[in-house]
Amino acid sequence: MEPIEFSKPPKSSKAERYLGEVIKGSHLAGDGPFCKAAEKFLLDHFGGRATFLTPSCTAALEMANVVAGFKPGDEVVVPSFTFSSTANACVLLGLTPVFVDVDPVFLNVDPDQVDRACGPKTRAVIPIHYAGVACDMDRLADLAKARGIDIIEDAAQCVGAKFKNKYLGTLGRFGCFSFHETKNLGCGEGGALMVRDEGDLERAQIARDKGTNRKKFLRGMVDKYTWVDSGSSYLMPELSAALLLSQLEEHERINDQRRSIWEFYRQGVEKSPTIAKVAAPQSMPSYAETNAHIYFLLLPSGDLRDRLLAYLREQKVMATSHYQPLHSSFAGQKFGRTVGDLRNSEMASRQILRLPLYSDMTESHAARVLEVVEAGIRKLS
Ligand SMILES: Cc1ncc(COP(=O)(O)O)c(C=O)c1O
Repeated sequence: MEPIEFSKPPKSSKAERYLGEVIKGSHLAGDGPFCKAAEKFLLDHFGGRATFLTPSCTAALEMANVVAGFKPGDEVVVPSFTFSSTANACVLLGLTPVFVDVDPVFLNVDPDQVDRACGPKTRAVIPIHYAGVACDMDRLADLAKARGIDIIEDAAQCVGAKFKNKYLGTLGRFGCFSFHETKNLGCGEGGALMVRDEGDLERAQIARDKGTNRKKFLRGMVDKYTWVDSGSSYLMPELSAALLLSQLEEHERINDQRRSIWEFYRQGVEKSPTIAKVAAPQSMPSYAETNAHIYFLLLPSGDLRDRLLAYLREQKVMATSHYQPLHSSFAGQKFGRTVGDLRNSEMASRQILRLPLYSDMTESHAARVLEVVEAGIRKLS
């Protein structure tokens, strides 16, 4: 039997044509016509004041911290249950990541814990919307206002997902997206920084263009361009932007196909007494509309999770686990600080099992995944 892969990049009908246009033309670097078209598409369809395509979400997170103007010694609150990039983007600038716990159901950062972690050095919180399911952005916004701190959304997994009908990534001062091949839309490696405030635009243009005022020069506003501030090369090459644009133009179909497999899993888990006995169907807060980035089961123990994962892989169903909590990682302990008890992050890391999910998956693939999960649970528990 063919293996069922964990993830496969989506296919888009215009990909080859767009890539061919780039190869035939003469603009291969960043900020070319496809880059501009993809940035415009993101703005027109998802919102925000300006969007900058970047080489990755990791780069977008770094760029957000640069543009925000945080200084060494400042603190940024992050969930422990996240990818290294969320905290690494702070550490590179000499900021201290302060790790807090997530809630035990949606695995999103717990606003009470964020509040507890805030002190005089806190400058921002970086929530991630795990699995493409929104954090409680009203509570985080109230808290950020009361504490005078920024929200930088790590929306790596979130393109097309919403909080109260507004797109994730547009609700904080900055939103950072990933277009890595494992995400709903992907161009191999890629990302985007969404900027909400007019006052951040010029700094963002300089930060992404090696600290120069090249954008002003291209607009004829200065007669030479020069090094004016700190920055890096946060540009996406034109070939990647062309591939990304071809997928953005089909984002509704791609996300809808994922949503229908997500719902198939949810109902399948609900209807299966064997699975429902050990793991609740994945649920969603009333304010969230997911892009179905991840369907996960939270098993009652790490031992069952590990044995079930091994069984699924033996049966060629490529399910997987997820993050190691950052507060317990080598770099997390070296560079960060932990506030409170992080038991939910540890539980999630031990007990989560993510099922295969990609846009071209059929219901018969998903049905086979659920059959193998059922058989595994019967055999192992
Ligand atoms: C929450 C989160 N943030 C950031 C990233 C990094 O994204 P990229 O690979 O585009 O740098 C990931 C990657 O999976 C992620 O899950």
